[in-house]
Amino acid sequence: MAELFNIGNNMKIAVLGKTGFIGQNLFNRLVEDGHDVIGCSKSTGVDLLDYNLTKQFIDTEEPLEVIYNVASHGGSMRYVRDYAADVISDNLQMTLNLYKAINETNRNIKVIQPFSNCSYPGDSSVQHEENWLNGDVHKSVFSFGNSKRGIYYISKCYSDQYKINTVNLLFPNTYGPGDSTDPNHTHALNGMIIRMLHAKRNGDDKFVVWGTGQPVREWAYIDDFIEALVKAIDLDNVVYPLNIGQERGYSIAESAKMIKEEMGYEGEIVFDTNYQDGDPVKIMSKEHFHKSFEDFQWYDHRQGIANTIKYYEDKI
Ligand SMILES: NC(=O)c1ccc[n+]([C@@H]2O[C@H](COP(=O)([O-])OP(=O)(O)OC[C@H]3O[C@@H](n4cnc5c(N)ncnc54)[C@H](OP(=O)(O)O)[C@@H]3O)[C@@H](O)[C@H]2O)c1
Repeated sequence: MAELFNIGNNMKIAVLGKTGFIGQNLFNRLVEDGHDVIGCSKSTGVDLLDYNLTKQFIDTEEPLEVIYNVASHGGSMRYVRDYAADVISDNLQMTLNLYKAINETNRNIKVIQPFSNCSYPGDSSVQHEENWLNGDVHKSVFSFGNSKRGIYYISKCYSDQYKINTVNLLFPNTYGPGDSTDPNHTHALNGMIIRMLHAKRNGDDKFVVWGTGQPVREWAYIDDFIEALVKAIDLDNVVYPLNIGQERGYSIAESAKMIKEEMGYEGEIVFDTNYQDGDPVKIMSKEHFHKSFEDFQWYDHRQGIANTIKYYEDKI
């Protein structure tokens, strides 16, 4: 496993996907830390599916030292099923353009990229890195999960042939302030918070949870996600991905109950089993993470939920 060194500041860093949930939070944190940060996304005029635009963006006068690749084409389970071809081809094409552009401009750039743990085999319960590729991803996330594996293969080949330095990290579902306010575009736990807030404000006596409520999920609070990405600046050549996990999960039902308590919603939680459950259990082994990120302090989950509720109470 890679070693950690002291993180310098004033590095020249690019964030691809700077308008996204992760991108915005990461961009702000890197600026706060004193780095010289540039960012781009499709809506800001840099479509990474366009090779020339990609190359132009990363070919800066003062050479980039690190690129965070947090640009991604994803969405809900339904979205990634209905738009499966677009999802996989866009995610792979963006990555191919990125590595080709790095190879043609500046091979000293380090690429740091987070993968979602839905890229693990669908039948894993505790997700160990050693088993990451040992089985099919769950059919509900076939396109998105496999696009992450594809990104790994691209980075591995560029590492093998051209020695491009990449750090690939696997993260669980993430929640926290800064995500979209549209429940159809937010990530799972944030979406539930928004829907329950609406139920509370409408005086609904029932809150419907999609599915059985049984699937167990591990959650990463946004500050933890960003902290891990920042610390990853001092890792080198972690091409085969490393888990950023606590090995601790909560069932959807448990999470709904926690949100209800923190929000002070008085209605009843009911389960609509017409909705398909995803993988039954997804928690991430912490064995290797602890070796590389020894002193990492995780944010308190209940406090994270309270902060997120407060964010949405102010926003919507
Ligand atoms: N959020 C989580 O729960 C989570 C968990 C684990 C891993 N991750 C990983 O973290 C990364 C970022 O996730 P996220 O939640 O921040 O995603 P997100 O909110 O959907 O943001 C995606 C970003 O990618 C940009 N983008 C999409 N297509 C593009 C294109 N063709 N050219 C340039 N930019 C494009 C978007 O730009 P526009 O806004 O301009 O369209 C946006 O800035 C993904 O790789 C994801 O797998 C996320």
